[in-house]
Amino acid sequence: MTHIASELTQLERIPTQIYNSADDACQTVADAITDLINERNAANKPTVLGLATGSTPVRLYRELIRRHKEEGLSFANVITFNLDEYYGLAGDHPESYRKFMQDQLFDHVDLKPENTYVPDGMVDSDAVFQSCKAYEDAIAAAGGIDIQLLGIGRTGHIGFNEPGSGPETLTRLVTLDSLTRRDAARDFLGEANVPRHAITMGVGTILAVHKIFLLGWGEGKASIMAKTVEGKQTDTIPATFLQQHPDCTFCIDQSAASHLTRERHPWLVGRIKWTEATTRKAVLWLAQKTGKALLKLVDEDYTENGMSDLLIEQGSAYQININLFNVTQHTITGWPGGKPNADDSNRPERATPFPKRSLILSPEPLDDVYCLGGTINRLKQHGNDVTIAYQTSGNLAVPDSEVQASIELMIELGQDRAGKADLTYAKTVKTQLKEKGTFGADTAEIRHLKGLIRRSEARSSARTLGIETAKLEFLDLPFYEDGRYRRFVATEADVTKMCELLESVKPHQIFATGYGHDPLSVPALSFEVLRAALQKCTGSEWMKDCNIWLYKGPADEWEANEIDMAVPLSPDEFENKIQGIYQHQTQRSQTPSRATNKSSNTWDLAREINRGTAEIYDSLGLAEYEAIECFKRLSK
Ligand code: F6R
Repeated sequence: MTHIASELTQLERIPTQIYNSADDACQTVADAITDLINERNAANKPTVLGLATGSTPVRLYRELIRRHKEEGLSFANVITFNLDEYYGLAGDHPESYRKFMQDQLFDHVDLKPENTYVPDGMVDSDAVFQSCKAYEDAIAAAGGIDIQLLGIGRTGHIGFNEPGSGPETLTRLVTLDSLTRRDAARDFLGEANVPRHAITMGVGTILAVHKIFLLGWGEGKASIMAKTVEGKQTDTIPATFLQQHPDCTFCIDQSAASHLTRERHPWLVGRIKWTEATTRKAVLWLAQKTGKALLKLVDEDYTENGMSDLLIEQGSAYQININLFNVTQHTITGWPGGKPNADDSNRPERATPFPKRSLILSPEPLDDVYCLGGTINRLKQHGNDVTIAYQTSGNLAVPDSEVQASIELMIELGQDRAGKADLTYAKTVKTQLKEKGTFGADTAEIRHLKGLIRRSEARSSARTLGIETAKLEFLDLPFYEDGRYRRFVATEADVTKMCELLESVKPHQIFATGYGHDPLSVPALSFEVLRAALQKCTGSEWMKDCNIWLYKGPADEWEANEIDMAVPLSPDEFENKIQGIYQHQTQRSQTPSRATNKSSNTWDLAREINRGTAEIYDSLGLAEYEAIECFKRLSK
């Protein structure tokens, strides 16, 4: 997909290519790397690559490994320089970037170990300056970096150049931003364990390379991507300095591009074709921008906001307003499973069959109640046959302290019962916990116990929503059981398990999430597995009559124009949902809020999100509700 300059891209200060998927984008970048390596190999010259860590480049590294193994791409003449390393972590620490690179790339290709440079995170504080200077010298001695890969942090950092980093900065010791540390909290099993400092190439070091590809996937990156591509250069968003580079391309997926003006407000930069979808997007945006209810928008609002041609096409503001009011009104339903014996021509879900078999898919325990606890409760109260399936065990998100508490309970209980209980398991886990320390990988026994802890929380939560525990399925998908964050790989074994579930439930409706998320995240992989399983079930009778409803996922919500079903909750129903969230005791940690990026706990975030949607409906001039959960229909 080439970047064609047009009025739609005129606000963009960095060439940006938007791809259907992360894998498509990775192909383009892998081609550029392959061509350069082959060209240099033929001329017997080295290729110098600048590498990044994190989730973003993992799929690209997998593709390079595949090309090495299957197509003979040789890295024997390649020299690599990594952007950064946590300060204080040795190369064999499970979360060090050196270890990450060994696992994700270096150990799988024919790179010479002496040609792989990663900043030394263990250098003494008084030798840091010298070490950083030596890193810059090594890059220069190699002839400079030919191709630099970058990801972008939500603070706008590249490498670990946090806000405040200027374009002249070189390799140095930096302090990590609190948002960056929070984003790394899961990898380090808690924010407190995330190092406070790192050594990073500077913005100036990056600007000196020959060619740059910045990659980005998922909606989590959409906001910072738009600011970087369209905003002015500023050290509050160091990535904006990439605008100075003569050969820098952003290769991003559609979700990461979704806040660019050409995607979000294309009518503001040029003529567009007014479809039902673009009209809905534009009019709901207009109402929110002007702070007016839909039915109060007047011709001037349209003409002053780049929508005069829509006005001409449709005749009058009155006509557009009334249409959009009706469309939005029809998204609201108190009957997420469909209302029996009612005219369903303007309802999101069909009336028959009734009751329905409703399948709720929750990537990890908690996602279900957090995102659609009120809807689950309603489905059940209306008599639908509700099954909740937890796709993964979620055991990686359980702190060791919870395991400690459980084994103490088991041991004490065993001792109380005068030796009648077998304590071998509890004692084994106790020893293993001590041996592994804070960062060691969990043993199979520890992960098992952590999974059981999450199951028990899921059961109490489901009971709060009125779902009997017999209707809960714990799939424990293998991709999660066999992996760790940022390193998951879904396989056929996952799809088979999902198919078995679908064929046994034969759902009339499925509620799922993961669409548009970072492709290596648990929700995105769970969704990919669902998609593959649905593909396999295409011939099944139940598939002919099954609606798939997407919920957005934790800490985020659909835009008003994306909502196809809005389920209002009364104050009591909403409080019940919050009670359900409370049951997940091990997950009471801090999660970044979508709006403020301030810390907030899960129940406060759920309040913020569901009340926020209700306020939007209210401000559009629809009914005023306490809270709303909402869904988008997956088109078949
Ligand atoms: C990694 C690095 C960082 C990451 C950024 C995005 O070496 O320098 O700038 O690229 O934090 O991280 P992910 O890809 O995990 O979203």
